[in-house]
Amino acid sequence: MKKTAIAPSNIAFIKYWGKKDEVLRLPENASIAMCLSNLLTTTTVEFDESLKEDEVTIDGEKDAKKSKRVSGHLDLIREIAKIKARATVVSKNNFPSGTGLSSSASGFAALTLAGVSAAGLDLSEKELSIIARKGSGSACRSIPSGFVEWQDADRDDMSFAYSIYPQDFWDIADVVVVVSNEKKYISTTEGHKSANANPFMKVRLERIGEKIKRIKKIMDEKNFKEFGELVEAEALELHSIMLTSDPPLLYWLPNTVLIMNFVRKLRESGLPVYFTINTGQDVHLIIEGKNVKKLISEIEKIEQVKNIIVNHPGQGTHLSLSHLF
Ligand code: DP6
Repeated sequence: MKKTAIAPSNIAFIKYWGKKDEVLRLPENASIAMCLSNLLTTTTVEFDESLKEDEVTIDGEKDAKKSKRVSGHLDLIREIAKIKARATVVSKNNFPSGTGLSSSASGFAALTLAGVSAAGLDLSEKELSIIARKGSGSACRSIPSGFVEWQDADRDDMSFAYSIYPQDFWDIADVVVVVSNEKKYISTTEGHKSANANPFMKVRLERIGEKIKRIKKIMDEKNFKEFGELVEAEALELHSIMLTSDPPLLYWLPNTVLIMNFVRKLRESGLPVYFTINTGQDVHLIIEGKNVKKLISEIEKIEQVKNIIVNHPGQGTHLSLSHLF
């Protein structure tokens, strides 16, 4: 049985950084995110008794390291479905991978739904989110639609994401400003490992519960100014921790800082726009839907910008009838 799933990437407003459990990918703290309508992975999976090994093609390439991580995830699905067959997996991103746009989130969410369905299982959103999490933590947030929370939990069966508001709850956009296609020099999974030894994590974790409560209240009230200020401060807090880790994680390029300063200038000129950044150089600009056009006309003036990708609150992971092979 061949099955295809489409999954969105997601952008965290309150970030996941550090793990309580490496293998299960249980995060140190809860996180809040939005699924992205225009950063998508499509994946087709077919289990085949005649295959000796999983055959994995991502964006037209066969890469041993990526294939191993995919096979490990398929093993989890095989265990649940009680099957042994290897699989053909073909996956495509509509955006550059390995640059900080969270292709592992959309990738493992799509692989989870396509794999589970191809294995003949029909699982709940919660079960899919738990499985996706074990492929890449943030992938659990790409299963439900719209605005999501990945709740804090110490147990495997309690660590999953669910929708806190539907896609049409708030017309805000994430305008991704791509400044380079350079691959990140330390993977996110490696980066997470340095969090536990960082002395500033203690302070972050002491305050994070309050932050989660606060952002949910602000979102409830749709107070964009307070929302943007909190999201931007959270991104800078995350990067302060990365910068002071051992080894130090500096994901910014000069053009990343250029965009951060440009955002401040836009705000000073009266356009309410804020940034957030993950483990990569590209900048996510958070803005109300009504101001997207104006923002794009400003960003287009910057010659260092390579690409602009506009995202609205996106649909979660879903099946598609258009297979990739
Ligand atoms: C900075 O989910 O990519 O983007 O579980 O090791 O695969 P692994 O990590 P991943 O971490 C995402 C980190 C982040 C913040 C976030 O998206 O919450």
